[in-house]
Amino acid sequence: MANEKRLCLSTSGLTKVFGFGQSKTLAVDHVDLNLYEGEVVSIVGESGSGKTTLAKMLLGLISSTEGDVYFQGKKRDISTQRKKQEYWKNIQAIFQDPFSSYNIFNKIDAVLLDCIRMRGGGNLPREKKVELMTEACSFVNLKFEELTNKYPFELSGGQMQRLMIARIFLLKPKILFADEPTSMIDACSRATILDELMQLRNETGMTIIFITHDIGLAYFVSDSVYIMEHGKFVESGSADEVILSPRNPYTKRLLNDVPKIYEEWDLSTV
Ligand SMILES: Nc1ncnc2c1ncn2[C@@H]1O[C@H](COP(=O)(O)OP(=O)(O)OP(=O)(O)O)[C@@H](O)[C@H]1O
Ligand SMILES: [Mg+2]
Repeated sequence: MANEKRLCLSTSGLTKVFGFGQSKTLAVDHVDLNLYEGEVVSIVGESGSGKTTLAKMLLGLISSTEGDVYFQGKKRDISTQRKKQEYWKNIQAIFQDPFSSYNIFNKIDAVLLDCIRMRGGGNLPREKKVELMTEACSFVNLKFEELTNKYPFELSGGQMQRLMIARIFLLKPKILFADEPTSMIDACSRATILDELMQLRNETGMTIIFITHDIGLAYFVSDSVYIMEHGKFVESGSADEVILSPRNPYTKRLLNDVPKIYEEWDLSTV
């Protein structure tokens, strides 16, 4: 990896409060985060610690209550729909729940064609578009011929998650949030998909942020790890520092829940 690290996304004091009065939830609490180009980061924390909320603010899907987001060194401006569309060419996500990610009225072809259009390929000839879609599908072990003319809800959960990765293959964003991206996939396909994501990272220099409960996954794939508790980062550093010699009691507790990370996540043997 390059020695000089270039900042691609950062936050200062980013905060999200849901609700009002007695039912108020402080989901994300003054988070300062620096993400660098080509870096693979994991954000690990228990359910409800604020991981998805943080990702949604960074993606511009929900507003923040307080704090700022900087994209490539400048304060992010997504004040108009057009600016948002432009921002989303650079930053994309694959979510925990693939069912919520697709417009159910759009056929799979439309989902993929939309990606080609976003990358400026809207005017390519039909054969070229089919070639790109076929390539993207085979990258994730799906067959485009079998998907064409189907709706996303006609796919299995695992197929849908792979379709999400095929989208990323076409979109080649600068930054990818992967929020429990392999939760519906069996262990073998899961390793393959992680491998594919890492391959995409190597080819495109994409920054990937894995959001997970799985500290084993975090250890094997990331350069840096952030541990999140109650909306705050309680510990961060290189994967080795945080996972092999954790200092924070919460991190130690998370690690105790995963006794066999080495056996479970040796991707090289899959
Ligand atoms: N739209 C919402 N309205 C109100 N509260 C919300 C909303 N979204 C999230 N929360 C609350 O914010 C807190 C953080 O939720 P979040 O989804 O970010 O957690 P998470 O770390 O992603 O959890 P998980 O690992 O289960 O996905 C939780 O207490 C949750 O109940
Ligand atoms: Mg979540």
